[in-house]
Amino acid sequence: MNSETTYLRSYTLKKEQIPPVISEDIDDYERESLKKKIKELLDQQEAVIVSHYYTDSDLQILADETGGCVSDSLDMARFGNQSSAKTLIVCGVRFMGETAKILNPEKRILMPDMDANCSLDLGCPEDEFSKFCDENPEHVVVVYANTSAAVKARADWMVTSGSAVDVINYLKKKNKKIIWAPDKYLGEYVQKKSGAEMLIWQGSCIVHEEFKGKELASLRKNHPDAKVLVHPESPSSVIEQADMVGSTTEIIKAFGDMNAKKFIVATDKGIFHKMKELANNKIIMEAPTAGKGATCTSCAHCPWMAMNSLKKLLHVLKTGENEIFVEDQIISSAKNSIEKLLKFTSNNQSIGLANDA
Ligand code: 13P
Ligand code: SF4
Repeated sequence: MNSETTYLRSYTLKKEQIPPVISEDIDDYERESLKKKIKELLDQQEAVIVSHYYTDSDLQILADETGGCVSDSLDMARFGNQSSAKTLIVCGVRFMGETAKILNPEKRILMPDMDANCSLDLGCPEDEFSKFCDENPEHVVVVYANTSAAVKARADWMVTSGSAVDVINYLKKKNKKIIWAPDKYLGEYVQKKSGAEMLIWQGSCIVHEEFKGKELASLRKNHPDAKVLVHPESPSSVIEQADMVGSTTEIIKAFGDMNAKKFIVATDKGIFHKMKELANNKIIMEAPTAGKGATCTSCAHCPWMAMNSLKKLLHVLKTGENEIFVEDQIISSAKNSIEKLLKFTSNNQSIGLANDA
């Protein structure tokens, strides 16, 4: 442990808080018929699909075919913010829908399944987090995008996996002490990269936490020519072996750019759809989740992302159910922390933020 890092208390989810991974079984005829109906309703309602890479490939294909977007959490927020659509259908998890609402309160935000949550969000209850922040008032509060609207409202900054290192480096240069929540692995990674003084909340992603360092080392031995691409929500034993660590968008880009034939990928396997679209001639191997201490709670697929489906998407378009609402007071505070990041990333560092840590 770095001497400047303090770890906050551990937060373990109860078994019943984690749903099983269930995917919708439909044949080609039903798929085409659902897609046709959805396309008509998207048109009629001036709606677009904003999807994450971890959702079912049917949803990703439909989003692309209908002028929506498929991307990481940062670009999902940017796309929703710039879109002229009246309705955004967010195919992802709850914090992504809430972020869209916070940035676009005038738009209608629908989600195929309101129970689609995230272990990081569930592992950082606003009341406990707020209490901790109050006890450490001299710290700048930085939270990961994977948190509730209320937690973002308590924060000074929201960051994503693709922007966390840059923001923490920026704050470090300004000699700021940092509270980081909720992902302990991403927090440790960012701390190592920046050397910043950080208090780290002990949340984790149940999907990435399952990747195993020892088993990855064995797989690499058998495939020494393979490049290893890792999402920073993974444990340090996995990150240490990576040729590239980054957000989902950065992983896809590295896969396309790197001059290798074989890749071992430590992130949710929903991302393979886009990778195959980009370079179908390259070989993708899942980073191992089996081995000592394995639980296979998710086996490299997020149970909450898997709740999104064509049938549910059609249902919300037909009924208007599952609309995301966020209290006005929370919107105005949470907007600050999110917009700070959007400004930071578009200005590419500190322009205009000199006194705004
Ligand atoms: P990205 O922002 O890298 O897409 O990560 C979101 C996420 O939930 C990863 O588990
Ligand atoms: Fe949350 Fe992990 Fe699912 Fe991403 S993959 S939404 S971090 S539980």
